Amino acid sequence: MRQLVVCVCVCAVIEHVIAYRYENETGMGDAFSQQLPEFRQRHPRPIGVWTKLTGDPIDLRDTITMNTDIFNNKHHFLVGAHLDRERIPERIVHAKGYGAFGYFEVTHDVSKYIKSDVFNGIGKRTPVASRFSTARQNLGGNDLSRETKAIAIKLYTKEGNLDMICFHIPVFLYKDPIEFPAFVRAFRRNPRTGIVDNTARWDFLTQKPDFLHANLWLQSDLGIPDGYRKSHYFPLHTYEIYNKHGERFYVKFNYRAELGMVNLTNAQAAAIGISDPDYYNRDLYNAIAAKNYPAWRLEMDILTKDELSKLDYDPFDMTRLWKRGTYRTVPVGRLVLNGRVDNHFKDVETSAYNPDNLVPGITGPPDLVFKARKIFYPDTQNYRLGVNHANSRINAPLYDRNYNRDGRPPLQDNMKDAPNYYPNSFSGPMTYVDEARPTERLIPLQRNAFDLQPVSEFYNEIIESDDHRQRIADNVAESLVGVSPDILKKALRLLTLVDIDFGRRVRASLKAQQLASAEEIRSQLAQCIASIG
Ligand code: HEM
Ligand SMILES: *[C@@H]1O[C@H](CO)[C@@H](O)[C@H](O)[C@H]1NC(C)=O
Ligand SMILES: *[C@@H]1O[C@H](CO)[C@@H](O)[C@H](O)[C@H]1NC(C)=O
Repeated sequence: MRQLVVCVCVCAVIEHVIAYRYENETGMGDAFSQQLPEFRQRHPRPIGVWTKLTGDPIDLRDTITMNTDIFNNKHHFLVGAHLDRERIPERIVHAKGYGAFGYFEVTHDVSKYIKSDVFNGIGKRTPVASRFSTARQNLGGNDLSRETKAIAIKLYTKEGNLDMICFHIPVFLYKDPIEFPAFVRAFRRNPRTGIVDNTARWDFLTQKPDFLHANLWLQSDLGIPDGYRKSHYFPLHTYEIYNKHGERFYVKFNYRAELGMVNLTNAQAAAIGISDPDYYNRDLYNAIAAKNYPAWRLEMDILTKDELSKLDYDPFDMTRLWKRGTYRTVPVGRLVLNGRVDNHFKDVETSAYNPDNLVPGITGPPDLVFKARKIFYPDTQNYRLGVNHANSRINAPLYDRNYNRDGRPPLQDNMKDAPNYYPNSFSGPMTYVDEARPTERLIPLQRNAFDLQPVSEFYNEIIESDDHRQRIADNVAESLVGVSPDILKKALRLLTLVDIDFGRRVRASLKAQQLASAEEIRSQLAQCIASIG
């Protein structure tokens, strides 16, 4: 009986989704599927003679090998050999992503806080590249999985590239960066079964409860946004910035979606995911094609140096929010994405975002997680893309002159005949001095202790209704199905420590979910998908 109800409800959702996508309720049409016809419209005739990579034209007779001496067909060998080598390593996290171009426009005067050229001069526009991603999926994974969604933004400013790498939830997972590798493994696939393992996940969570807070945000309604456009984004770190007088401020940046935060239910996400795991990508492409340009308002939460020293919490701890009433928020500008990438591999896969790409006016976040990121982003990019990855068109700044030479391409012009050592007396690139740059750096002492208070606050204050608390409990319970009994006991104890009501709800939900055998639900689902053809 219970399972019958599940089936009816899922079928209804699938029909709704199909209607939603194909009857243009969004007013966007399906530009995605028009890409090839669109190309032909721009090029009614073939764009040229097909050549080998070295330029010699390809003879029609070399495009088949039947009844020929295939080892004499150079063309056959070259295209096969190229295909054999097409893959490069996918990103170790956030492997599945999608890109868009656009601009950032200054809307408010924030010169009293920050001297960076990109944020000064109302109306000033700076070109932007961006890459959206979903955290745990491999290339080709499902956009609709319940996990962190993200945007990485590259602002090509006159003072160099400024990269801002953001999560769609306002808290991070941990404060000690050495936990990153273990976390990534515990939440990915079991080395023997090759399957995501809830026991490993909760084993890790119960021993490193820091991770619980961000995980609960992801188990909430926020865990599955309705596409990349309908979500806020947060670079999360507390950045140290300075103005032209050298005065320092501590800020959190927030990108607030003009479309607001819109979420999908589990049933909607499951139904869409079955037919369209690229739903987020398609949505973004279609929206931009229809000139429904997604936009975000950039704002800064600000603390002065003085205020910072009087707080009763650690403002550099990304596993918690800044306490309400301790800071003020000022608007800065507007990010608009109005351009589709014309080649996904070139503009998205080979892009390299690094949170340490900063510009004068921003000394950067002083916390430990950031210090670790300074090392590991360039490290992985040197491996993934090679040591000259900053030379590719998507990664190169508007202006650069340097003393690097050689290495595997891309090389640009390799600085031609300019002197290749510094200092030199022969007009090589010279340095400048930023008079305002602070001469000292703040080195915060960060506490190791784990604090459940922000997690309880999230459950009791940020979550607005009991219905929502129940949905979180149901999602958490789902992730506890099949967890080994000793770990399960620890998990339930931890959740009860967050809140007694929470522990109770999860326990009850788990019991109900255990009653419904996973196998039966699966066959029921298969039947109802078959029945709607
Ligand atoms: C110890 C801390 C961290 C480490 C070691 C780390 C490591 C990495 C690595 C190795 C990559 C792959 C980069 C590439 O191949 O280009 C990556 C990507 C990414 N990380 Fe982190 N990360 C950390 C913290 C964070 C934080 C705090 C955020 C959010 C504010 C974040 C958001 C992202 C995003 C969005 C991407 C994908 C970027 C893209 O689209 O290219 N990470 N991270
Ligand atoms: C859907 O949108 C496209 C593009 O805007 C339009 O050409 C098409 O006629 C629309 N289809 C329907 C059924 O409204
Ligand atoms: C999405 O979830 C967030 C967090 O609970 C909530 O504030 C927001 O109103 C939700 N939006 C929709 C449309 O469900």
